[in-house]
Amino acid sequence: MHAKRLHSFENKKLGPYDQAFNVKTKGDEFRLEFSTIKGFKDILPQEVGSWQRFESKARRLFDAFGFFEIKTPLLERTELFSRGIGQDTDIVSKEMYSLTDSKGREMTLRPEATASVVRAYIQHRLYKKSPIQKLFSIGPMFRHERPQKGRFRQFHQINAELFGDAGPKSDADIIIMAVHLFESMGFSDLSLNLNSLGCDMCRPRFRQELKDFLLGKTGALCTDCVRRAETNPLRVFDCKVEGCNEVVDKAPSILEFLCDECRDHFEALKSYLDASNIPFVMNHQLVRGLDYYNRTTFEIQTDRLGAQNAVAGGGRYDGLVKLLGGPDHPAIGFAVGVERVIALLGEEETLESRKPDLFIAALGEAAGKESFVWVSDLRKSGLWVEMDYGSKGLKAQMKKAGSLGTKKVLIVGDDELASGMGVLRDMETKVQEEVSLENIVNKLKEALHINER
Ligand code: HAM
Repeated sequence: MHAKRLHSFENKKLGPYDQAFNVKTKGDEFRLEFSTIKGFKDILPQEVGSWQRFESKARRLFDAFGFFEIKTPLLERTELFSRGIGQDTDIVSKEMYSLTDSKGREMTLRPEATASVVRAYIQHRLYKKSPIQKLFSIGPMFRHERPQKGRFRQFHQINAELFGDAGPKSDADIIIMAVHLFESMGFSDLSLNLNSLGCDMCRPRFRQELKDFLLGKTGALCTDCVRRAETNPLRVFDCKVEGCNEVVDKAPSILEFLCDECRDHFEALKSYLDASNIPFVMNHQLVRGLDYYNRTTFEIQTDRLGAQNAVAGGGRYDGLVKLLGGPDHPAIGFAVGVERVIALLGEEETLESRKPDLFIAALGEAAGKESFVWVSDLRKSGLWVEMDYGSKGLKAQMKKAGSLGTKKVLIVGDDELASGMGVLRDMETKVQEEVSLENIVNKLKEALHINER
């Protein structure tokens, strides 16, 4: 196993991303000492709205399909992934963030969620609760890939897994759920790619045929693929090297090798998709980069993100639960790449920023103290209320209220407090009215149309 170790990253020479901390930032008189490491990124407040909107759409949809959320740790034993995903895959052989702890145990930051969810399914005997288990999870994954548009070293997936059914209806159900998720976000230009990888009965014949084909073309393959042709020929389909792509374009199609059961399964799935008006394209090269798949594989692809064209991918993995030490239970699932979805949403979709309901501009010590209490009372009822922490003048406070986009401002100085009358200004219409300060918190709640929660 060639998984990279954490300490080897620490000692690496700085790359262009890492060097950012030596750059003097424009307009500021300090040097940036720390910045995110290569392939890792901050999700800033102005982007978080889109993330939340997508997540809440997914949660609502998954509820309707009867899925329950599961949260698993970010760190797992390395063997879970090497055995589950496969030694020959790029993920296991090149991309895992692995470390050895002080007791010599090999651990890895999860590169995907499926193996972890399967581990939890076995460990907690979730199958005892119900013969069909539908689980989803949301969170970060880690792969040491070359960062580029749509490809990060820490990225986020929304992941769904269905355990306990081997029939084509659950394939269709899972795929339809993935398609609905993208439709609910308003995407209409994505394409659903479909393939079948057969089973242990029919795949060996295809593997042999593919191996013979590839071994006749070793001169045109990269060194990795020459090795893969021998050890795991299906992995040659994952290779990004142009010469290898040209070779696999002429490779035999796995669909020609399916046994009767796999063909019937696949035909039934296609008929369910047809009946549900879900268009798809057949893609016999869609082997997916993980070894656990059998029968159905699928990807939802876009042509708007360059080389990283998959916004979601998944498939059936009937042997994985058993391979990881559990019962012989079938399963199917998929994962969506959240960063790619957010990139597709583009600039125009960023949510309109929230604005405070009220700003209290207080002048003088007594008014400052009294309005401090009003602010917390109003916030308790769910209103977004802002104030000035210092003792700025009215002009500065009004400027601050304006820059926040506040809807209304209550102006109250020590004199107003003594006379019991303040001023309420509507920042849009610029109309000001005198308001009695008696029972002002309740009056404001009413005026701002929010009742105590
Ligand atoms: P995957 O194809 O490796 O499948 O990843 C699923 C999705 O995660 C991809 O389609 C892509 O949108 C996103 N993704 C993957 N790598 C990156 C990256 N480096 N940067 C940004 N986004 C990325 C799996 O992980 C399987 N566990 C899916 C599955 C669930 N199969 C069955 N159940």
